[in-house]
Amino acid sequence: MNTKDIRDTFLGYFVSNGHRLVPSSSLIPQNDPTLLFTNAGMVQFKKIFTGEEKADYTRACTSQKCVRAGGKHNDLENVGYTARHHTFFEMLGNFSFGDYFKKDAIRFAWELLTGQFKLPPGRLWITVFNDDDEAYKIWQNDIKVPSSHIVRMGEKDNFWSMRDTGPCGPCSEIIFDQGETVPCDNPEDGIGSDCDRYLEIWNLVFMQYNKQQDSTLVPLPKPSIDTGMGLERISAVLSGVTSNYDIDIFKSIIAALSDILHIRYDRDKLTGTALRVIADHIRAAVFLINDGVFPSNEQRGYVLRRIIRRALRYAFMVGMREPVLYTSASPIVKLYSDTYTELNAHENIIGSTIKDEETKFLMTLERGLSFIDEHLHTLPSSG
Ligand code: GLY
Repeated sequence: MNTKDIRDTFLGYFVSNGHRLVPSSSLIPQNDPTLLFTNAGMVQFKKIFTGEEKADYTRACTSQKCVRAGGKHNDLENVGYTARHHTFFEMLGNFSFGDYFKKDAIRFAWELLTGQFKLPPGRLWITVFNDDDEAYKIWQNDIKVPSSHIVRMGEKDNFWSMRDTGPCGPCSEIIFDQGETVPCDNPEDGIGSDCDRYLEIWNLVFMQYNKQQDSTLVPLPKPSIDTGMGLERISAVLSGVTSNYDIDIFKSIIAALSDILHIRYDRDKLTGTALRVIADHIRAAVFLINDGVFPSNEQRGYVLRRIIRRALRYAFMVGMREPVLYTSASPIVKLYSDTYTELNAHENIIGSTIKDEETKFLMTLERGLSFIDEHLHTLPSSG
């Protein structure tokens, strides 16, 4: 299965189980000035969870465009150095608005992973919130996961919130054991550590509260479900690779960038890190500009500028001296235009916006370098 097939299978599975297929919302959250970017699938449903809005469906599924490069969930500086962080990614999710709760959410997730995606049950581990006996028992008694594979964890890992206020609740995570070929730095590390061997693939949030400014938890009108599974991560697992950057989508973006920059992708060298950073960041820029964010010195525009400039810094380190990265926008648009059809109409503006930033960056750098050249010989000699 390629990444598109995985997205389609996920959505098809939930549609066949009575969920409304809702399109991804914009990366710019609508009517929510508290949030810089859409950072999870539940963002567009926030007011349905709290009861402020009504929908004509009680079950939904989405593949949601997300950016985590500012605010509570910020992965920017990790990108390039880990196998799984991104600034932009897609989150697959199923939602229940006062319809089903823990039992069906857990059953659906298990059925999809082990039935449709055929993941071996023995390689799956489960975490539940410390005192969530109900979820523990469903996993143990209904799904028949052995208790040796169910781990209770604290608030840091198993209580999810969109930000400091808003809908939230205890969660249960499904972890995939990638096996001994992905060793942990510390052999003692297990579930809940940062070790990549144990990869969190799906987070089932049991939405029960609306967190207030003063941190009190007000119960939601009805217990609900919000789940999130990173598309790139599950694609890596199902493709049998241990890095998201080795899935079909990234292989093809990295190949295009390799040609454009005339460098080889060498996973463990600077060119590897640089190509991962650039591939991730230019993809994020394509989607942000597509949704109407433009580089500026404020708020969202400033985050976009930082993302593009980080890509440019890495491109400079591996030899780029002319504006060329913008030419990678077209292959990225082509990769996604079946799913996000509006990309086609925005292709030119996306390319020209990135080109402008590149040109400015290179001019600034050139001015800085000639300044250093001019002044270097006027410094007193240390000898
Ligand atoms: N809303 C669930 C998650 O982002 O993990």
